[in-house]
Amino acid sequence: MSDEESDGERIFIGVAWPYANGPLHLGTVVGCLLPADIFGRYHRMQGNRVLMVSGSDEHGTPIMLKAEKEGVTPKDIADRYNRQHVDNIDALGIELENFSRTSGDFHRQVVQDFFLRLNDNGYIYPETMESPYCESCGRFLPDRYVEGTCPYCGGLARGDQCDACGKTLEAGELVDPRCKLCGETPVMRETEHLFFELSAFRQELLDWLEDKDFWRGNVITFTRNWIREGLEDRAVTRDLEWGVPVPLEGYERKRLYVWFEAVMGYLSASREWAEQQGTPEAWRDWWQDDARHYYFLAKDNIPFHTIIWPAMLLAHGDLRLPYDVPANEYLTFSGEQFSKSKGIGVWIPEVLERFAPDAIRYYLSVNMPEKHDTDWNWTDFQAKTNNELVGTYGNYVHRVLTFTAKHFGEIPAAGELTADDEALLDAIEEQGTAIGEAIEAVRLKRGMKELIGLAQRGNRYLNDMEPWNLIKERRERCATVLHVALRLVKALAIYAAPYLPHAGQRIWSMLGQPGRVKEQRWDAALDDVAHARLEMPSPLFDTIDVDDLIADTYEDEAADGCETLDLRVAEITRVREHPDADRLYVFDLDVGALGSRRIVAGIRPWYDAAELEGRRIVVVANLKPAVIRGVRSQGMLLAADDGTPSLLVANGEPGEKVAPAGVEPQPSDEVDIGLLEDLGLEVNEDGAAACGGRALRDSNGVVRPDRDVAAGTPIH
Ligand code: MF3
Ligand code: ZN
Repeated sequence: MSDEESDGERIFIGVAWPYANGPLHLGTVVGCLLPADIFGRYHRMQGNRVLMVSGSDEHGTPIMLKAEKEGVTPKDIADRYNRQHVDNIDALGIELENFSRTSGDFHRQVVQDFFLRLNDNGYIYPETMESPYCESCGRFLPDRYVEGTCPYCGGLARGDQCDACGKTLEAGELVDPRCKLCGETPVMRETEHLFFELSAFRQELLDWLEDKDFWRGNVITFTRNWIREGLEDRAVTRDLEWGVPVPLEGYERKRLYVWFEAVMGYLSASREWAEQQGTPEAWRDWWQDDARHYYFLAKDNIPFHTIIWPAMLLAHGDLRLPYDVPANEYLTFSGEQFSKSKGIGVWIPEVLERFAPDAIRYYLSVNMPEKHDTDWNWTDFQAKTNNELVGTYGNYVHRVLTFTAKHFGEIPAAGELTADDEALLDAIEEQGTAIGEAIEAVRLKRGMKELIGLAQRGNRYLNDMEPWNLIKERRERCATVLHVALRLVKALAIYAAPYLPHAGQRIWSMLGQPGRVKEQRWDAALDDVAHARLEMPSPLFDTIDVDDLIADTYEDEAADGCETLDLRVAEITRVREHPDADRLYVFDLDVGALGSRRIVAGIRPWYDAAELEGRRIVVVANLKPAVIRGVRSQGMLLAADDGTPSLLVANGEPGEKVAPAGVEPQPSDEVDIGLLEDLGLEVNEDGAAACGGRALRDSNGVVRPDRDVAAGTPIH
């Protein structure tokens, strides 16, 4: 085995690093992680030396904003999601040599060295520019910290991009810009940043792209056009605290721009892997020796991987450039792009709770957005899983294994082969080549279809040979047919291993074959199946049913009614005891622009009137008014209630809106108290008040009960 190993080619696989600011979604898996994994597993089975790396992209403003929203540090957010991503990646059966983190010391060191080398080589220069600055927050507002009206389409846009029309923006272009933290209008202020001289690489990039006509059409066209339209130098520093420090004097308060630094993760994770292996120089085999570099990502990441990172590699000198960048289009979910920042999508932790990883991998493989967007559709997921994965592939394997186990209890020896038998064995070879070629060309959808075709072929063979009749009178011929059929079972285990690693291994074990299927060579599918005893097998897959899930999804949507609430900060100006009820207080509240309100609430046994006056609480301002024991109540205060009420307290100004994170309130005229019960208002794991799973916030941060209560405590 070891001399064969040294024959192998070296393949480097870079998988776009998912942001650690939320759970993984199906889009990231189908666009990056899964295709890379199929590709990597296949190459390992071909005896090639694969180095596949990725990691958590942990810097950048989305993580900072999320941290700010939750009142925790960016590192807390990164730790939380890095851990979850690692678990999910493992559960999905995705195997990398290293899944690292950009907040790690190793990465920081490699990035700083890389940066200094670009600087020494003369590709970094300082320039003064104008950047939005919020005087009330006392800070510069990078990218996503500014919101305003898009100058192109009039939609709501962030400082770096308009989601409505997709245009890339400079913060200075926004009409009516606002600070996302405090809502004030920022001013433009001068600041000095370091630039990377991207424009110097125009010709070298075009030369490098010269022989890349084998790339996916959209990727090469997009890249060449972008370069021809003119490359502009890029600011690679930002006025931030969270990120990789700039290793130059005078820049202590700045950090390297997240994209500039994250792409270097491909190199840092390779070096870190080598270090962990105890062979610290081994990364050079891929980065400085002959090796093919593949990068897996979704289309919004194309320019970073086909222009900016290659230019950085050229500027560094002495490092390998990408060989292929088979970027994927988007997986849509009933028409909408998956997006973590907008909260539309199918979250991997939930999907993994309900479905086997290979079912997910299967549907994603036959539905890969390789050339155009494809849609994830739950009903289609059920149909394809049950008809193809279970009905064709699983069924063939199960039929052969059960029948043989029952009648022979072992893999029977073959007698003389007929033309039918030979034809099936030829099909194993032909299809094995076809699947392999498809994977090598990163046409993964096609490879999976060929695999199902081969299983279909097996089902036809069984139907034609009718072993259930042969067993009665021609036991020897039956043995031969089953032997041949089992050779196909073995081939189906090997060929499936890149796509369906769990199923492949289970078949391998049920066949009683030695070792692990992923350690087999691809061509071992052509070898005879080793003799083994056979136990009665259990079915490979369960059929799936998406009805429950669809029902739950609709419930989730009901919980999304949170935007209909008009929640406001209110200051208690006066508290009186209700004349006719000894549990009730009557409150007068100052609700800022909404004026003053009177409400009745039943918290008298737990709170002294004196301690309540002057406190800022949260009220539902658009609740249908009600007369409570003769006093008209215009709204309702919110409290967490585990038997003892605990008022939600806010820090914002009276009248200020309180809304679930990421939700734009669209209050209805009047909400019914019954609705409140359905919204999922409760205390979340961080101890904050939440609606439909999202923390409630005012401009000062999250809103909490005034004492510690357990997660899940209802609020009403
Ligand atoms: N985190 C980025 C995204 O999700 C991808 C970064 S790829 C890297 O769009 F190479 F820069 F890390
Ligand atoms: Zn501000």
